[in-house]
Amino acid sequence: MSGLEDLFEAAKAARENAYAPYSNFKVGAAIRAARGRVFTGCNVENAAYPEGTCAEAGAIAAMVLAGETRIGEVVVIGDAALCTPCGGCRQKLKEFSAPDVSVHIAGLDGIKQSFTVAELLPAGFELHGNRD
Ligand code: THU
Repeated sequence: MSGLEDLFEAAKAARENAYAPYSNFKVGAAIRAARGRVFTGCNVENAAYPEGTCAEAGAIAAMVLAGETRIGEVVVIGDAALCTPCGGCRQKLKEFSAPDVSVHIAGLDGIKQSFTVAELLPAGFELHGNRD
């Protein structure tokens, strides 16, 4: 199995544990950190809707907790036409990614389309990086 297939399967398994009773839309995310370890997350909704968290945020939190701060590759999976990360998660991914890091968007049967972080978030905010 290739590395990308492993990452897809990890994201798919994470999606199974999503807590999404309000939207009924389960999402899984898998991040391969730059040093090779894989971290996963799922969306976790809340009765107070804005308190819900996205799958990507969970995977990033797990990665950082483990002491990793560089993303190598990402798979996001949801049963939608194209389950691309929300705007906030694009910024969260950018924090830990080089511009050319791949974010693969998958449906239940496999990867549908791939983007770089720079494609998902052109001109993304950097605290000290946008000076002339
Ligand atoms: N969601 C994610 O977790 N990641 C995405 O990339 C898109 C949306 C979640 C948030 C919410 O729990 C549900 O999907 C519907 O918006």
